[in-house]
Amino acid sequence: MTDANPVNIYEYEEVARTKLGKGEYDFIAGAATDEITLRRTRAVLDSIVMKPRMLVDISDKDMSTTVLGQEISFPVMLDPAGNHSAAHPDAELATARAAGSAGTLMVLSAQASRTLEEVSQAASGPIWYQQYFFKDRGLTLEMARRAEEAGYSALCLTVDAKVKPKRERNIRNNYQGPASPNYDPSLNVGGSSWTFGLDAPSGANDIRDQAATYEDLDWLASNTRLPLVVKGIMVAEDGYQSAEHGAKAVIVSNHGTRYLDTTFATIEVLPEVVDAVNGNIEVYMDGGIRRGSDVFKALALGARAVLIGRPLFWGLAVDGEDGVKSVLEMLRDELEATMGMCGKTTVESIDRDSIATVSPLLSLFPTGTEFR
Ligand SMILES: Cc1cc2nc3c(=O)[nH]c(=O)nc-3n(C[C@H](O)[C@H](O)[C@H](O)COP(=O)(O)O)c2cc1C
Repeated sequence: MTDANPVNIYEYEEVARTKLGKGEYDFIAGAATDEITLRRTRAVLDSIVMKPRMLVDISDKDMSTTVLGQEISFPVMLDPAGNHSAAHPDAELATARAAGSAGTLMVLSAQASRTLEEVSQAASGPIWYQQYFFKDRGLTLEMARRAEEAGYSALCLTVDAKVKPKRERNIRNNYQGPASPNYDPSLNVGGSSWTFGLDAPSGANDIRDQAATYEDLDWLASNTRLPLVVKGIMVAEDGYQSAEHGAKAVIVSNHGTRYLDTTFATIEVLPEVVDAVNGNIEVYMDGGIRRGSDVFKALALGARAVLIGRPLFWGLAVDGEDGVKSVLEMLRDELEATMGMCGKTTVESIDRDSIATVSPLLSLFPTGTEFR
């Protein structure tokens, strides 16, 4: 156990910061350019208010749901995120064990610091594998096959990372992350001063395909038995197109604002994507989830489940597997309390009636002229 006792995810981050080197901390916490949307994300989530309900029988609550038919004990999953070894030597093995013991699902990153086979051996719960469209379609299929054979139950295609991001903290720190052991070293996808591996700006070989289109999604869908989850959707049309081209789910995500800055927060665009897919595929959301109430707000706006990125690193850095499990359990406990206070006993029943974004006082002063 850790000697520090963080009582929430923000405190987990504070303790993690004292344990990590500056390069590692900034690699995890940082985002693209001015980090404006990183701040906006929290501001928007904080601005949504809850509408509590009284005298509802909440004695019997069920937090579980399904994602692509697989049961998870509460609607929070672990995002794909590269290089867990930046936070703990047990890296993705610890994270996979924590996800399983907390009763949820982990998405393993294409830039993991352990092989996808090692992680699947360690995992006790459902696992999905994240990948990119590579210029070499043979390599794209090879990774899909390896994931199929190792027991991953979905492929998560990250589509918002075609272009090298400008992460100024990493540039300043000259941060060098390790190359993922998942690729043949002769591919030379290794470290850089921007992020690492596949994000490398120069020297290393960027194997991702900038030419990929929705036709490639059709191609992959017809060449793998695994369902496809498209990650990085920020507008309605892309949600619609993903569903049309073989995806079984999308993740409304802006990559934790680590690529393009000054986008909307994900929670702002979630409703338009939910409307666009019209119930034909599942919609999940990530970005800035730090409280059970944030999970509730995303579910109220139509997400089936959410995922967390940075918080898993804070858990790992503070206490390895136990830390990740504790971060997940905090979110579950906070969500359960929020549901109870809003009179909800199942995650499916959480709806827009439970939240508001505009103060009712505004309707009393529609033009503002009353203040003269
Ligand atoms: C350190 C780090 C590494 C990441 N690596 C990947 C990755 O390899 N693939 C990917 O699709 N997303 C990656 N992401 C983005 C996350 O999957 C997710 O979209 C984002 O972290 C969610 O926001 P949050 O950190 O506020 O929870 C990474 C995020 C972080 C913080």
